[in-house]
Amino acid sequence: MRSFFALDIDPATQCSIETWRSRMIRPMGRAVPAANFHITLNFLGEITPQQLHRLCVEADRIKAAKIELRLDKPEYFPASGLLWLAASEVPAVLMDLVKALRKVSKKSGIQTSRKSFRPHLTLFRNYHTRPALLGLEPGFSISCDGFVLFQSVMGRKEVRYEAVRRWTP
Ligand code: 2AM
Repeated sequence: MRSFFALDIDPATQCSIETWRSRMIRPMGRAVPAANFHITLNFLGEITPQQLHRLCVEADRIKAAKIELRLDKPEYFPASGLLWLAASEVPAVLMDLVKALRKVSKKSGIQTSRKSFRPHLTLFRNYHTRPALLGLEPGFSISCDGFVLFQSVMGRKEVRYEAVRRWTP
């Protein structure tokens, strides 16, 4: 199964972000459905049942914490056609969690990204015209109780993310 660790976003905040997006950003490309809004912590790709088991055993050793994050910066990447919300300030507890999850993956035999982590919430994919972002000042406070292992499930039209396990404080 294709999976990833992430912070999930509560439905009320998903809804506020979607409302802001539809008011402030011209729709182009593929808008990520609000129900799919999340912040990826560690992308795992395809994993086997054995790896899933090991991931869960290893992740049980992490002390899950409450994570507060403010998404306040829209960013656009023309080469990849991605438009997302990023955070000007990244709390140390979040960096520590990502570091711990990368270790969990490695111990489970899964090689994941070594790039520096930049939390973001993807709003659009395949966005190929530069959006007018100047002057936009989003400010969404995200509050998460721990972290989630999601799997991507291909629906008839689009992908949806299902929580496989949650680790809460
Ligand atoms: P994103 O976090 O930038 O939106 C599920 O597919 C999630 O994992 C998506 O949110 C996606 O990007 C991220 N993702 C997908 N493929 C990836 C890859 N090869 N490397 C890193 N992250 C990936």
